[in-house]
Amino acid sequence: MLGKRFDLAVLLILLLAFAVTATTGLLADYLGIPRSLYHRLSAYSLAALALWHVVVRRQQLRGRIKAALGRRERSGHRYLPDSAMPASQLRRSALSRRSFLISGVTGIAGFFLGRWFVQGGLPAELEGADLGLAYHEWSKPSVTAFLRKPLQWGLQPPQYKDYPSAPRMPLPAITDYKGLPFGETVQRRRSLREYAGKPLTLEQLSVLLHSAYGITERTYPLRASPSAGGLYPLEIYPVVNEVTGLSSGVYHYQPKDHALDLIKEGDHRSSLLGGTGGQDMVLKAGVLFVITAIFQRTRWKYQDRAYRYILLDAGHLGENLYLAATSLGLGPCGIGAFFDEEMNRIVGVDGKEESTVYLISVGNLV
Ligand SMILES: Cc1cc2nc3c(=O)[nH]c(=O)nc-3n(C[C@H](O)[C@H](O)[C@H](O)COP(=O)(O)O)c2cc1C
Repeated sequence: MLGKRFDLAVLLILLLAFAVTATTGLLADYLGIPRSLYHRLSAYSLAALALWHVVVRRQQLRGRIKAALGRRERSGHRYLPDSAMPASQLRRSALSRRSFLISGVTGIAGFFLGRWFVQGGLPAELEGADLGLAYHEWSKPSVTAFLRKPLQWGLQPPQYKDYPSAPRMPLPAITDYKGLPFGETVQRRRSLREYAGKPLTLEQLSVLLHSAYGITERTYPLRASPSAGGLYPLEIYPVVNEVTGLSSGVYHYQPKDHALDLIKEGDHRSSLLGGTGGQDMVLKAGVLFVITAIFQRTRWKYQDRAYRYILLDAGHLGENLYLAATSLGLGPCGIGAFFDEEMNRIVGVDGKEESTVYLISVGNLV
């Protein structure tokens, strides 16, 4: 009797530990947490419980294994296959009317509960609310949000964007770059809008791009700025006004080879001025970095929360650019006020699958 209670208790705790491990695992994956303490702790207790159960019940387990293999136990008791079981015992194990009714009612209740969860639409309190707030509310993790999600959010697109027919300019390798010390860089960092109009060097452009989104770990390609799930949804299009050794034009940064692809040659200053609502630092900047996002790169995995992560990624990339520019003695300025369609047109993206999310100008200080 005591043995049975013990077995039941261990089984229940094991089931609970299993449920917690599975739920925390799914939640951690959903929220993009690679190492969740709760998940690890419940997984360790699950393993410890299973091990303890095996040690304490090793005699019985050995007996059951032998029986399953059809061998006679030392006690002389034999486990019988179904075909050898008495008819009365088989009848008892068959589906009874009560269990049939219970499973039917549970199934119907589950169906209606499911319909209620999957309904979708905005909650009443958000009708007419600011879209940003509605999105923020909508993308909070909850059981109902989880259940109402569609199962398929599309496929994972390629991690790099290529311009195979564009002329390629390799960027100088960064071997012994030493800028200002970190503390001084942070102290000095400011958004600066007055530029001398002198060209940047190719080495400076190379350091800026590498610091923003360059590959810093080749085995599993990781970049200089962090990205949710290591999915790197952003692209950088340096619009070059003046850089020694480069003709002016719209370029695309290819992190794989640390190179630039020229996608549109020419002076684009007047378009940049129009696209930023007349913010004239874009005229004297050596380069305006146009940062776009390919949303599906993060969306296929993080679904509703992807948009939050993409903008956070852009903030990290932007800060790396700010700090790199400051440490080079250059002036950076983030620009959030821009006309999306005009900027998308300049860099040649459709504004749907890929769209501009942030601009940063960098120039020589006066
Ligand atoms: C997301 C974002 C958008 C910004 N947009 C603009 C902008 O459109 N024009 C501008 O002149 N400065 C812009 N800035 C720069 C801020 O005005 C600046 O960071 C703020 O005044 C604080 O100054 P500091 O960066 O020198 O510390 C932006 C900064 C951020 C982070």
